[in-house]
Amino acid sequence: MWLNIKTYDQYKDVYRESRENRLDFWEHEAGTYYWRKRWDKVHSGSFKKGDIKWFEGGKLNVTENALDRHLNTIGSKTAFIFEPNHPDSFRRTITYRQLHEDVCRFANVLESKGIQKGDRVCIYMAMTPELVISALACARIGAVHSIVFAGFSAQSLAERIQDCDAKMLITNDGLRRGDKHVPLKDISDEALQNCPSVDHVIVCQRTNRDIEWVEGRDEWWHLLIRNASKHHEAVEMDAEDPLFILYTSGSTGKPKGQMHTCGGYMVYTSYTFRNVFQVAENDIYWCTADAGWITGHSYIIYGPLFNGATGIIFEGTPTYPDPGRFWEVVDKYKVTHFYTAPTAIRALMKEDLSYVKKYDLSSLKVLGTVGEPINEEAWHWYHDQIGNGNCPIVDTWWQTETGGIMISALAGVTPEKPGFATLPLPGIEPALLDENGKLIEGNGVEGNLCIKHPWPGITRSIWGDHDRYLETYMKPYKGYYFTGDGCKRDENGFYRITGRVDDVLNVSGHRLGTAEIENAIDEHDNVVESAVVGYPHDVKGQGIYAFMICEDEPNNGETFEKEVRDLVTKIIGPIAKPDKMMVVPGLPKTRSGKIMRRILRSIAANDLENIGDTSTLLDPAVVEEIKSRQA
Ligand code: WTA
Repeated sequence: MWLNIKTYDQYKDVYRESRENRLDFWEHEAGTYYWRKRWDKVHSGSFKKGDIKWFEGGKLNVTENALDRHLNTIGSKTAFIFEPNHPDSFRRTITYRQLHEDVCRFANVLESKGIQKGDRVCIYMAMTPELVISALACARIGAVHSIVFAGFSAQSLAERIQDCDAKMLITNDGLRRGDKHVPLKDISDEALQNCPSVDHVIVCQRTNRDIEWVEGRDEWWHLLIRNASKHHEAVEMDAEDPLFILYTSGSTGKPKGQMHTCGGYMVYTSYTFRNVFQVAENDIYWCTADAGWITGHSYIIYGPLFNGATGIIFEGTPTYPDPGRFWEVVDKYKVTHFYTAPTAIRALMKEDLSYVKKYDLSSLKVLGTVGEPINEEAWHWYHDQIGNGNCPIVDTWWQTETGGIMISALAGVTPEKPGFATLPLPGIEPALLDENGKLIEGNGVEGNLCIKHPWPGITRSIWGDHDRYLETYMKPYKGYYFTGDGCKRDENGFYRITGRVDDVLNVSGHRLGTAEIENAIDEHDNVVESAVVGYPHDVKGQGIYAFMICEDEPNNGETFEKEVRDLVTKIIGPIAKPDKMMVVPGLPKTRSGKIMRRILRSIAANDLENIGDTSTLLDPAVVEEIKSRQA
């Protein structure tokens, strides 16, 4: 029987049991899935060595658990409702049986193009059912999918394709996001000029715009699937075979390809989805994320499908055609579970309340947030205006690396507290450590958030760079997994994530490495050196502030800033554009040449009183100069 925790007392019991018999707990959970062969060993490896394995020797295919297993029971149930960018465009629903057929068809197409188990396939697509079908078809044949958010630039796309040597790219002719058009095929063509590993490009029609065509390389999705069989025997995978790679930003310039494996990821996303959201049989669950991020992977595609839920695939934005769009969709489909980012809530809360009041939101039962800390004001607005004061809110803390939710209330089951992710899920033991690596015990404390024991959903490696994996997560605190987040534990043992303690920004819930943005800015002919920091932004959570040393003082500040923004958009994508910029005569550096970001952060936040000690700087006068420019 699947574990579905229904009371706070049960949560406490299960938590205790999971602590006492960790492996039994996970073994029991794993036992509820369809395995072609049961595992030989529940778990091996450690954080010390960074060689974590779960359910080794087990054989399975995740799509048999997401699709085939449901056919006899809920084959005619809706798996997905597709809501297009424009409310008047063609919408459709897809049952589990249809999705199974579509995935089988496309799996046959992939195989006919020579894609085999272990090959990497890059997916750069609009948020449509075909994106989900592409990912699942890869999983079905054992190919490793690497979904790249369709807001990244040609250069970022190329970098991700090169890093994993993808053999195929699946894309659209273009996409519409709000009133913007993104020419995905043009961007792909540009990227592929530098990607010799890609032999095949499959293009799914979405915007019907004119595109370039490379004969022998490019093929239309709709022509390929026309004659493909709807039967496909899933390829048998080892539990520890890679399922997908997803790139995420780290504190150095190069994005990290997080590698998740079949068995552990399946068990973990399914377990967390079920217990956190508490979705019942006829509920309509909507996660507004894009499948290009981990939230989309785990809680649009995999977690809900393993549980046989009905989800929404939403192509649009919160404010198109007007800021009532989310609420219109909730009303239209009688959504029961709504999961979004604090950024979206903060943006919508600034709009006139009539955009909310126009719609009937009484179907809502559970609200969720993810990706960044939620401030109390936004929490209360969400709770009162959207949830009508009676929907539990799950503030779910987790990361691309963790695969699934780690710290969160279980909806309506465990207590909530505004601004707090609250309690760890059974099977997860958080630990707070101080700067010196000492464990901080007791309550009413604050430290760096680590996890004590491996769990099935943890990333197994960084693609092609296991050393970096060890360096980033395993070495900072020996014997623990280090999250990179700061965290408070209140007097009741509830956790509140305070934000990143490394050089990673969280802008509108998206992770961006400062080094990545700096590298892009430094490409400008006139920029000698730059330093990027975050500052508090009332909608995005964090805004991007770039300090730049220039060769020549720019004649026209506005033109220069526009050039820098365009450059960052070109190199990374629009999400990484600096919000504010300042040309500075120098950067505050220590004698060893390290930029003191703490100082820049205070200046960016306009907190000029609390700059702190500058005596260790090579040139303290620089700080005064920057301060005067800020004022
Ligand atoms: C932050 C997103 C506060 C955190 C699923 C983490 C959060 C990073 C929360 C991971 C939350 C995520 N409260 N902060 N509920 N959820 N974060 O990899 O800093 O895109 O380390 O995964 O987002 O971002 P990622």
